[in-house]
Amino acid sequence: MDRNSAIGIFDSGVGGVSVLRDAVRLLPREHFLYYGDNLNAPYGTKSEDTIRTLATHVADVLLSCGIKALLIACNTATSAAVAALRARLAIPVVGMEPALKPASFLWRGGRILVLATPATLRQQKYQALSEKYGEHAVVQPCAGLMEFVEAGELSGERLNAYLKDVLADYENVQLDAVVLGCTHYVFLKRAIAALLPGVPLVDGNEGTARRLKSLLEQGDMLRTQGEGSVRFMTSGDESVFIPLMEKLYRIPV
Ligand code: DGL
Repeated sequence: MDRNSAIGIFDSGVGGVSVLRDAVRLLPREHFLYYGDNLNAPYGTKSEDTIRTLATHVADVLLSCGIKALLIACNTATSAAVAALRARLAIPVVGMEPALKPASFLWRGGRILVLATPATLRQQKYQALSEKYGEHAVVQPCAGLMEFVEAGELSGERLNAYLKDVLADYENVQLDAVVLGCTHYVFLKRAIAALLPGVPLVDGNEGTARRLKSLLEQGDMLRTQGEGSVRFMTSGDESVFIPLMEKLYRIPV
């Protein structure tokens, strides 16, 4: 495999752009090809089989572009499809999971709230993670939340009303940390933090980017010179989603 080939990265939509940013920061010489499956979003309310079929199709599209590694920038797609994709692809495949493990080490014995999609929380992968690290964790599935980010709505009354409703049970609960277990939610940090003042918000993006780097290092597949690049692709309306991805790629979170 040519070290100058791009790294493919995908999500059900624009959420994975939050992971892309960390990956580019860590690997500035690499070429990244980002694919948002916006046409089929959300994944988080679909069945495991459907998510696996969709993710396999996206991986095939990226493979046909000649990528050297695949980063699944989506917790939901990782839970449903990472094993199948690793078995199918001859390139390194990096997935992600809600950052419960690091959070449980940082706030030992603390109460941790995990926000993620219904599909992520329901699946075996999260159940296994929770058995190991989730003794003090509470989970909150957030069907409907990623749609705000897909619509470019990162603040405002509608979003606040949704969040207030979903976080109502935790108003009087002492939380030590909140795990953002969906890559879309990283773009909603400000709105979530405003409702949970002082509670640290944790995501797995940087750890995932580091894992990608170390796998490429191990395989001697890193680009060693020249400037990197980022290209966006979508299964949805290009005139809507490419500008949104470009905007999200640039805004500070
Ligand atoms: N961004 C995805 C994740 O990290 C999920 C959004 C969706 O429901 O498609 O889980």
